[in-house]
Amino acid sequence: MNFFVMPVHASLAKNIQIAIIAAPLFHYLLAILLTMRLDKFICKSTELTRTEAKKLLKMSKVTVNDVVIKDPATQVDEDDYICIEDEALTARRFRYIILHKPLATICSNVDEIYPSLLHLIAVDKAFDMHIAGRLDADTTGLVLITDDGHWSHNIISPKKQCEKVYRVWLRDPLKTTTAEKFTHGLQLQGEDDLTRPATLEQVAEKEVLLTITEGKYHQVKRMFAAVGNQVLGLHREQIGPVKLADLPLGEWRYLNTEEVRAFL
Ligand code: URA
Repeated sequence: MNFFVMPVHASLAKNIQIAIIAAPLFHYLLAILLTMRLDKFICKSTELTRTEAKKLLKMSKVTVNDVVIKDPATQVDEDDYICIEDEALTARRFRYIILHKPLATICSNVDEIYPSLLHLIAVDKAFDMHIAGRLDADTTGLVLITDDGHWSHNIISPKKQCEKVYRVWLRDPLKTTTAEKFTHGLQLQGEDDLTRPATLEQVAEKEVLLTITEGKYHQVKRMFAAVGNQVLGLHREQIGPVKLADLPLGEWRYLNTEEVRAFL
């Protein structure tokens, strides 16, 4: 058989030749991928719409590397220093949203008996995002929504011990022994491990604030059922350092940089 074998030095020379030709093309393609229109960059980095971004540009409120730019089509990338009225923008690859969940909505990407709460968020491709820590249909309160899976893992994973604070309205007055049982951990039906230590703060005879660091299925309701009580109302007020505060029921907003960083 007669195989044609290219000498090693000849194949090396060919590879170098290919690399020399391909390198500028590669850099050109990379530049195209990393740059974007200035108005798009503003929308990605803020909650402004394209129209609002264009308006600000027209009003000379935007600078790129300290130069006022009015053309929305100007190409920029993440290395550019872009400011709106002297406030620097950081490119936001992902979206991070807080929503005040109303009753009779579900934390799912598909509608079931109740509609998905993603309908409440007026952003592009809302259904491409997911909910970091679900609430039941009859629970209200703080929900975090994102398209950054790594970020939501830091909220959901019990290993990360991210605190969630619930306001709970009970059927019966809180027993004096409950707080200690919650600190020690409870054996819930169908679970291998005890619940992680949870803290209770009594607000009224039948109202408490409960802090837990995990999110088993119906966890709060099952914890109170395990001590012979019943949850009549449930509302999540806080996840990590992020508080619902005065965000109205059914409303949402983007998280600020500090809030996003808390779970990075
Ligand atoms: N625990 C529950 O039982 N329900 C929720 O919605 C959240 C936590």
